[in-house]
Amino acid sequence: MVKSSILYPHSSFLNLPDLWDLYVGPVSTFSINTTVQPTPIPSSSLIPPPSLYYPSFPTGQQVPLQSKNESWSFPSTFWYGVAGASYQIEGAVKAEGRGPSIWDVLSHRVPDYVITNETGDVADNNYYQYKEDIARIAALGIKTYSFSLSWSRILPFGKGPVNEQALLHYDDLIDTCLSYGVTPMVTLYHWDLPLFLQNTYGGWLSEDIVADYTEYARIVFTRWSSKVHYWFTVNEPIVFCGFYPLPENYFKATSVPKKQQPYSCGHNVLLAHSAAYRLGKSINDSLSISFKNNGGYKIQRTDSAADAEAVQRAWDFNEGWFANPTFINGDYPSNLKTYVETFLTPFTQDQKAQINGSCDIFAHDAYTSDFIMAPDSGIAACVSNSSNALYPGCYNTTKLYANNYWAMGPASDPGSPWLYKATDWVPAFLHYMQDTWKPKGGVAITEFGMSEPYEELRTDLASILIDPLRSAYYRDYLSAILIALSEGVNVVGTLAWSIYDNMEWSQGYSVKFGIQFVNLTTQERFFKASAFEYVNMFNVYQDK
Ligand code: NOJ
Repeated sequence: MVKSSILYPHSSFLNLPDLWDLYVGPVSTFSINTTVQPTPIPSSSLIPPPSLYYPSFPTGQQVPLQSKNESWSFPSTFWYGVAGASYQIEGAVKAEGRGPSIWDVLSHRVPDYVITNETGDVADNNYYQYKEDIARIAALGIKTYSFSLSWSRILPFGKGPVNEQALLHYDDLIDTCLSYGVTPMVTLYHWDLPLFLQNTYGGWLSEDIVADYTEYARIVFTRWSSKVHYWFTVNEPIVFCGFYPLPENYFKATSVPKKQQPYSCGHNVLLAHSAAYRLGKSINDSLSISFKNNGGYKIQRTDSAADAEAVQRAWDFNEGWFANPTFINGDYPSNLKTYVETFLTPFTQDQKAQINGSCDIFAHDAYTSDFIMAPDSGIAACVSNSSNALYPGCYNTTKLYANNYWAMGPASDPGSPWLYKATDWVPAFLHYMQDTWKPKGGVAITEFGMSEPYEELRTDLASILIDPLRSAYYRDYLSAILIALSEGVNVVGTLAWSIYDNMEWSQGYSVKFGIQFVNLTTQERFFKASAFEYVNMFNVYQDK
């Protein structure tokens, strides 16, 4: 039995079953609990849907998009794929030596943290059905699959003993991708922090995590750098640092003041990411290593000077928080720096040098946009008042045009209120990223997608599978990328979120982002119309 060599806060030695029993409790399992061999994909399920935009054609006759725009093309090197993440899809949370992560606690123990009271215990059962999952995307013609590793599968305590079964599992996942001609892209950390690290020293709030994360990175880079070229160190630090402060009484208490916690986390993320980057490059200099940033285009709501200033603050407190240090100068953007230097130890010259230049591509999860405006009370009043609800960013956002009447575009599901279809702004956004952060390896849209409104209320399979808003989103977003490409922006790839419906964190399974539907009772998968729309854009526009 794996025992941690570390004295746990309760002054006893905890083994893995104790950790599960004390902090999580019983978990659910699914009837399919050994690795499944893929069955052939029925050819009937590969017949594209009738077109959404034109008079119906007999099913099975995919029609081209409007008239093809002959001046658009995706370069032959452009990669396109689908993405998922360990806690959201794997299930099998206690199988084969996995240790608990903070999400096992959040979903099992914290009342209403997941609004549906659901967990990732079974999720899409991908831990056992991954072969079928890869076969299905390959059958569609998708040649890239982005997934994340569960840190607490590989290191059940986040540090210390390595779980060999987890390594064998991911060996086979990667080999299966390669056998189907699918390029695996691997994220090391997609929010499922090993519980032990949170409870030992506060997780990302402590600089101790830098060494533990780097050791984890060493294990995975060493094992798979000859098979995996594209690596993402961490997924969306703006979001997971925003989980702090975590709910009280379920994890180790911290003395870091609440409003400061996201920024302490961010500081340690920058150190951990850049250390892993340097390590990965020292193991294999040809790897592409980046972190996945996230955000959206920030549209100045009116032409006032105050709104212009608010837009700059919004960049500085979001994308710029992680992108300026890594792409520009090893340090925070000025508006953010003014705030964080009141409590964070500044980066040393060596740390700045380590952080600066630590991304090979600008990997952006760019779903939507926001209108930005100054707070009603004004920026100066907010900046000098730490109890202002908008402090410390001191900018405001809305989805409504300045007439307070029209939304920027169609809304997604009410469970994802941050997401509206705003594809018209994508070309401007891509230009902004290229011009501001000048990534040497180009810009990749590493997640984009739409939650079809009220999809969970549909009960009849045929109506679930036609997803018009998601289909239009992919078509229009990819058209916008084609425009940006034709204007000289170096966009290098896209990853649709998501490979299939999955555990949407605090929303449980109620919000659907998949280009495939998953029947959670049977674990059967079905392609939605958007899957065909996504692939068809490349069939029509990609250079051979
Ligand atoms: C970004 C996150 O990386 C992913 O985990 C999440 O499911 C999607 N956005 C949709 O909200």
